[in-house]
Amino acid sequence: MTERFLERFGAAPTIWTRAPGRVDLMGSHTDYNLGCVLTLPIGRDTWIAARPRRDNFARLHSMNLEASAEFNLDSIEPDAGQRWSDYARGVASVLAREGKTLTGFDAVIHSTVPIGSGLSSSAALECAVATLFEALGGWRLDPVRKAQLCQRAENQFVGVNCGILDQYTSCVGQAGCALLLDCRDLSSRAVQLSPALQVTICDTKSKRELAGSEYGRRRAQCEEGARRLGLKSLREIPLGDFHNREAELPADVARRCRFIVEEHDRVGRMAEALAAHDREAIRGLTAASFRGACDLYEIGAPPMLAMMQAMLNAPGVLGARQAGAGFGGCMVAFVEKARTAEFTREATAAYAAATGIVPDIFPVDAAAGAGRC
Ligand code: GLA
Repeated sequence: MTERFLERFGAAPTIWTRAPGRVDLMGSHTDYNLGCVLTLPIGRDTWIAARPRRDNFARLHSMNLEASAEFNLDSIEPDAGQRWSDYARGVASVLAREGKTLTGFDAVIHSTVPIGSGLSSSAALECAVATLFEALGGWRLDPVRKAQLCQRAENQFVGVNCGILDQYTSCVGQAGCALLLDCRDLSSRAVQLSPALQVTICDTKSKRELAGSEYGRRRAQCEEGARRLGLKSLREIPLGDFHNREAELPADVARRCRFIVEEHDRVGRMAEALAAHDREAIRGLTAASFRGACDLYEIGAPPMLAMMQAMLNAPGVLGARQAGAGFGGCMVAFVEKARTAEFTREATAAYAAATGIVPDIFPVDAAAGAGRC
């Protein structure tokens, strides 16, 4: 990155920031229903090398995309031609509206979060950019506030109606532990996973599109369900009460809502199971989560079914499920640490044989949240 920076900008960078991607360990689509999620900031992250400028221009170069973009901090508009830069523009625009002093800069960006595969490459970029503005301006945001502003950038500027999960994990995450996040009050507590367990990402390498209509449609159906039940959000209804009342809902809305209420209920139990290395509970909870994701929430896709088979038949696996928004992309397996290499080899071969696609399967550990480095 330093070499590239010198090449493009003729001097060395003076400020470095980074922010991690994330994988959810339990709690699909619970965030915008104000439920809980068990989430892990991962050691795949987005780095920015930067240097302040004297004028009000932001000049960015993405090493992953081999693309450059430039904008004036005094008049920030989206750029249809360089959509990746909208994550940076959006953060700048939201921070400016918050009254923060923005400083112009030159920057080189490099990410090890696979782009667009469900590990929050966009949130990692937003949070690294927000951290850069803090460093350049000499001011600091509380990490939860920073996550909210980055989410606002994605909702209002980029136009993706996501929940808080991705930005919260990227800003608030701590090295060495998962977070049990409560999306209603935005509190979280650290969860120590069993050291004999390896969280393993299994990237199906199939395309997914979060901004596509399905994510928004699911969200609208949940909101409709809550409204019909007289609730502010699905978080408010205990599982037993929901089962008694779901007949009041149209069948498709009932299915979506049942998944959310059940999934929220699994989150705390999964945190306990992963801490205690409770094999039976991990297997049962992940299986129920995946079944619900496919049959009730309908966010499955054929490559996910093939990957599920490959993961569950591989040695050392304790359980596996979807990750992110679903519809393809990455999945997550919980593997006996001592058998990670065997698991990776066999799951890779089985998925490749079934689909003709070579997957990317790799272990991840809990990394620190966004910061300067
Ligand atoms: C995407 C969104 C998150 C969350 C997940 C599903 O990652 O950005 O807010 O809704 O999907 O849990």
